[in-house]
Amino acid sequence: MNDKVDLVIFGGTGDLSTRKLLPALFQLHRHQLADKVHRIIATGRGEMDTATFRKEALQNLKKFLPAQDWDEDVWRVFSASLYYANLDADAASDYAQLAGFLDHDSAPIRLFYLATLPSLYGTICRQLHHGGVSNERSRVVLEKPLGHDLDSCREINEQVAGVFAEEATFRIDHYLGKETVQNLLAIRFGNPLFQPMWNNTFVDNVQITVAEEIGVEGRGSYYAQTGALRDMVQNHLLQVLTIVAMEPPASLTPTNIRDEKMKVLRSLEHITVDDVKERTVRGRYAAGAIRGEAVPGFLDEGEYKDADSTETFVALKVGIANWRWAGVPFYLRTGKRMARRFSEVVIEFRAPAISLFANDASELTNKLVIRLQPEETITLHTFNKKPGLGRGRRLKPVELQLTDDSDNTGHSHDAYERLLLDAVHGDQTLFMRRDEVEAAWLWTDSIIEAWKEAGTPIKAYNAGTMGPGAATALTALDGRSWYE
Ligand code: BG6
Repeated sequence: MNDKVDLVIFGGTGDLSTRKLLPALFQLHRHQLADKVHRIIATGRGEMDTATFRKEALQNLKKFLPAQDWDEDVWRVFSASLYYANLDADAASDYAQLAGFLDHDSAPIRLFYLATLPSLYGTICRQLHHGGVSNERSRVVLEKPLGHDLDSCREINEQVAGVFAEEATFRIDHYLGKETVQNLLAIRFGNPLFQPMWNNTFVDNVQITVAEEIGVEGRGSYYAQTGALRDMVQNHLLQVLTIVAMEPPASLTPTNIRDEKMKVLRSLEHITVDDVKERTVRGRYAAGAIRGEAVPGFLDEGEYKDADSTETFVALKVGIANWRWAGVPFYLRTGKRMARRFSEVVIEFRAPAISLFANDASELTNKLVIRLQPEETITLHTFNKKPGLGRGRRLKPVELQLTDDSDNTGHSHDAYERLLLDAVHGDQTLFMRRDEVEAAWLWTDSIIEAWKEAGTPIKAYNAGTMGPGAATALTALDGRSWYE
């Protein structure tokens, strides 16, 4: 049976497709990893023929690919696989036209990538089915956000499930495709050294930060309805948290890994009106400066509906009620227009019971710092005697780099390259299962409820800072501090 893939992108001229998907597909071609991709059919509402679409794709690729990655020969082969189909998600006749672009003779697998408004996912799946465009070998990839709360997420999942089996449904969270998130599995389960220490006996706290310099970038009206908790925590931060906190799976199969992640999500302590004040901070950027350039505040950037109830920053103190993690706070924070762009996970180990050195015991905490971006590094912070004849009464910090760049080809694969490749090969390991996304919404909804009930204020922070002062207080009240 033909195991090549015809990839159909709904929202094929949209932002995600232009900035991420097409560049990722080009890169896969460049690295000779796309031999299974037969055709790429972008669909969109705009009237356009394939030749015009190819011209636009050429311009966009040159804009969004690093200049050194551009390759005319690759483009020639890649562009020959690109097609455009004009499609209105509601119009049954357009699906018949779409079917015309698909290869019926060699019958490759049909992979539908939905990067439109999620409210259209149900309609698109239904139409694909009724129009005979999808078949039992088809797969569907769903971009986030999957709804804006548990109910809307369930509704979308239900509609999609009416057409595609769970084994054929790939829910994307691009953070799971990042190299260092992968490496977390390797660190945790490939190194017996860390295994006995990965629990509440040895770990004092865990911090997960995703800080962005960018603002809402023309997505203000979407963002005003969404906010940082729904846009980032419900998915990216929680997914990273599950990989940090999960039990060792029986094996690295999609089911086993996702079963373990699911147990973590079920063990998250719900934040309620009683503890929302101590456990959460909401912020919104006011005017400030990023890298010396003045930038406006969120509310001054546009007239967005409901913007005054939107947070662009959130910090949380999360508890996991299981034997491994009870009592260990997981501090999460994410925000737009922060001082620097970086994403990292910090595992801070407990301080020694007493110090034998001039350093205070509280200074001697080992940390494992796993940086996801902009660089991909893993660093173990340890302490060492200062070299020389001194007795070594005062120890100095020494960083052990666990980053392997020995086979660094100069190209660090974007998360979308990996995830597209996995979807093409039918590997669900790095995609979210239905119960995972729903459990993440259930937990997130409880925070939104608690915010409403408690009337939790949104604190201002100047663009270009690390968020409102209350975020510093969140860790300081526990006698800890954010790792900077
Ligand atoms: C998206 C969010 O899912 O992730 C954006 O909707 C955010 O608001 C983006 O900017 C961050 O992704 P990355 O890979 O740049 O950290």
